[in-house]
Amino acid sequence: MSTSFHSRRVYLETYGCQMNVADSEVVGGILSRGGFELTGRIAEADVILVNTCAIRENAEQRIYGRLGLFSTFKRGRPGTLVGVLGCMAERLRRDLLDEDWVDLVVGPDEYRKLPALIERAFDGEKGIAVRLSRVENYDDITPLRTDGVSAWLSVMRGCDKFCTFCVVPFTRGRERSRSVESIVSEVEALVEGGYREVTLLGQNVNSFRDRTRDFADLMRAVAAVDRDMRVRFTTSHPQDMSERLIEAIATEPNICKYIHLPVQSGADRILALMNRTYTVSRYRSLIERIRQSIPGVALSTDIISGFPSETEAEHRMTIDLLGELRFDGAFTFKYSPRENTRAWEMPDDVPEEEKGRRVQEITELQHAIALEQNRTLVGTVVRILVDGPSRKSPADYTGRTDTNRTVVFPRTAEEPGDEADIRIDRANSATLIGVNTGGTGAVRAFEESAA
Ligand code: 5AD
Ligand code: SF4
Repeated sequence: MSTSFHSRRVYLETYGCQMNVADSEVVGGILSRGGFELTGRIAEADVILVNTCAIRENAEQRIYGRLGLFSTFKRGRPGTLVGVLGCMAERLRRDLLDEDWVDLVVGPDEYRKLPALIERAFDGEKGIAVRLSRVENYDDITPLRTDGVSAWLSVMRGCDKFCTFCVVPFTRGRERSRSVESIVSEVEALVEGGYREVTLLGQNVNSFRDRTRDFADLMRAVAAVDRDMRVRFTTSHPQDMSERLIEAIATEPNICKYIHLPVQSGADRILALMNRTYTVSRYRSLIERIRQSIPGVALSTDIISGFPSETEAEHRMTIDLLGELRFDGAFTFKYSPRENTRAWEMPDDVPEEEKGRRVQEITELQHAIALEQNRTLVGTVVRILVDGPSRKSPADYTGRTDTNRTVVFPRTAEEPGDEADIRIDRANSATLIGVNTGGTGAVRAFEESAA
């Protein structure tokens, strides 16, 4: 099919973490600057790009399934290009390019080459670009964003921590940060564009460093741009959770009181094998300090179950820690061996079924805790930022509290980006359900007249 009558259309699908979502917006920015048009419909795409995740085996399996579908699609529509981006591209490299339906393989630090690589691929030349960079941070690229309320903004890339289970240092390379100035000016542009919330992103966001300025300085600078802009960040490592950062979160009114702080295990021996650089008691006192300094703060965590040699007793330590610390949320994963990592050399000796049982036990406990935490909010009024229609029931709208709890309510006349005060009538472990106590925009109008 000739494509000379319209600019070439690219369909881009994204898997994995928020960094990938932000990267896809960077790719969108690069492609539209290169004269391509983004489309949400595969049927009209000249190029199909998939931004992939390699964090666990099952993530890769799911994406492989999806890629298989695109290869079938391509047989029915020869001339369509298929490109694999992101962490799987970086990890599998030539192995992916050897598949006859793959035209492009591009790693996370090579997206600037996409327009040229796509042009060459249209001439029949397969393309691969998987070099990792010590400097690339896409500082000058304006991401192509679609959501008008809440923006992802990547402030640093890569990871130097080398947890022994994790493939990220291999797929995303060394840590590098953007400049405070470029981040602040991007936030200013977001304010201009009507955004109400920005989430600063990095694999290890709190190890951000721009010469003498650390992540606490960056957060304060971003928060000062506009006090009506909510500021969030993810994801942090306990080692870099400094007193200065806790202080910044506590004192800057528009920094959201929510911290995702992966603990991974409740057993010191496992934490040491994971190279996490802290002990349970250090993690515990960190949580205590955070809760003392930031009243009402919400905390969530990540857990890996079935790490090599993890015993039942060590699993119980994780259960006990969760019971003690009472997180507002926890994401639990079965350990998945990744090539090149140090844990790859350790025998993966906890049976799959046993990993599943441990994950389920943790998930059930955490559900019960989250339900109890959420129920304490029934009868109270919470301030939310409105996101938009609920996916499950379009007559309802959803929003999020400062502490990142999802609130569902029957829409009256609220628009995305409004603030509203919702009285909570019911709660389950994932959601609060209530009604708007004021009219639309009432909160903002009130604040403006008070100001
Ligand atoms: N197996 C299972 N879970 C993993 N994670 C990272 N690597 C692995 C792995 N090999 C989890 C960690 C991390 C989250 C993003 O994914 O809990 O915090
Ligand atoms: Fe992976 Fe650890 Fe780096 Fe997080 S801090 S990306 S878990 S190596």
